[in-house]
Amino acid sequence: MQTIIDITEKYSKQDNPVFLITDIKDIDKKYFSEDEFQYIKSCHKEHKKELFSFNHFDHWIFVQFIKKEKIRHLRLESYRAAGAKLLKTINENKLHSIVIVGSEAKPEESLAFAEGMALCNYQFLKYKKKPAEKINSLNTIYVYSHGIEQKAVDELNIMIDGTNKCRNLVNEPVVYLNAVNLAEEIKSLGKKSGAKVEVLNKKKIEALKMGGLLAVNKGSVDPPTFTIMEWKPDKPVNKKPYVFVGKGVVYDTGGMNLKPGEYMNNMKMDMAGGAAVASAVYAIATARLPVHVIGLIPATDNRTTGNAYVSSDIITMYDGTKVEVINTDAEGRLILADALSYAKKFDPVLVIDVATLTGSAARAIGKYGIVAMFSQAGREFNQLKKSGENVCERIVEFPFWEEYEELIKSDVADIKNIGGTDAGAITAGKFLEHFTDYPFIHLDVAGPAFIEKSYKYYPIGGTGIAVRLLFDFIKRK
Ligand code: BES
Ligand code: ZN
Ligand code: ZN
Repeated sequence: MQTIIDITEKYSKQDNPVFLITDIKDIDKKYFSEDEFQYIKSCHKEHKKELFSFNHFDHWIFVQFIKKEKIRHLRLESYRAAGAKLLKTINENKLHSIVIVGSEAKPEESLAFAEGMALCNYQFLKYKKKPAEKINSLNTIYVYSHGIEQKAVDELNIMIDGTNKCRNLVNEPVVYLNAVNLAEEIKSLGKKSGAKVEVLNKKKIEALKMGGLLAVNKGSVDPPTFTIMEWKPDKPVNKKPYVFVGKGVVYDTGGMNLKPGEYMNNMKMDMAGGAAVASAVYAIATARLPVHVIGLIPATDNRTTGNAYVSSDIITMYDGTKVEVINTDAEGRLILADALSYAKKFDPVLVIDVATLTGSAARAIGKYGIVAMFSQAGREFNQLKKSGENVCERIVEFPFWEEYEELIKSDVADIKNIGGTDAGAITAGKFLEHFTDYPFIHLDVAGPAFIEKSYKYYPIGGTGIAVRLLFDFIKRK
């Protein structure tokens, strides 16, 4: 269930207030006994204690100290992290609602605190036998702060809902979520939001000769899908659309280059890019943002059977490029390449792809950021980087020099699908770039898409990475 954030004009002790303060002098003394006040004062000073919880039997009072961080985006992130930290106590004590009182805090700071708490309150309970016992108690976060705007709160709720929709999709195992079901789920996101959704089935994909998507699908018993999601408002601010492309590998065994040992664990998450694209378009449409956006999600599983594609196969892609397959585990770039060529028909102002593309990206920076490359898109890249800071889904620019292209030259075809051991994330990006002729940004989210241990405001599993990033980016157009 979605945690709702709402504005309140007043509050009392009974509403479980959470006082956000940066200094002891910000405390409104009428809510505390003298003992409590002295306790807060000394513990904060001597032991640097930052969170105080007072159980008053029929209600709770919380005091949260937050460091005076000067840089705006770091400050907002410390509010999010603090919100997530307090959530545990709130659920342990079965509270249904709280009021964030940010008397000294700016509206955006109180909202960031609420955001961290709401994002952290997500649960994936679909497959738990008795979910009622396990459901987190908190369902409403009220915010009391001067000058808070309803629109900001509405957009925040939508952005969190979009992130959680993405997490749900990523957490679904392939036994339920094959490519056809993923397309169905995206259709339902379209219905809910007002975005138009068209699903190309295997016959259509064959007729279009999407050789990359078909090659990866060859070893599967389930057909592939290619989903097109479009949000076109009445008077869009842009003449040419923004196109997002998301990798939808619903399960990656590696194919005939089967992933060994632990490496196959959690490969249900290999559609996290596709889920993020669909959920971002869903959120953008729900918020009625005045921007024309299109999402493309090619989807299949990558498996081994008698007819699976094998290394040294040469495949003809949607745009006619001949690709030599060296490794069937480098499948994401093959399905994305067809979608990137397909994107040309929309004459896009910018294309951004989101993909759990390489272990190399994950090894380089871990779960802490998104590996990014771009061509012909310097200005847009800087704006996306800013959005990354705003929502703390940070993007890190990797080199994208043309020399890397040498590494994917093939002796027998136009290009090959891997470049060797060096610079794996970059050669993957270069492979994708081959299929573009427009301003292009590549986001490799292999590191942050899925986590095995909860972290900050991310519960275990799919994180929903790139939904808030794309939403914030489009919101500022
Ligand atoms: N889906 C994987 C990348 C991945 C790895 C995502 C770990 C999340 C966590 C991708 O399809 C893959 O297998 N890439 C290979 C490419 C290699 C064969 C060149 C990789 O990174 O090992
Ligand atoms: Zn793979
Ligand atoms: Zn993959």
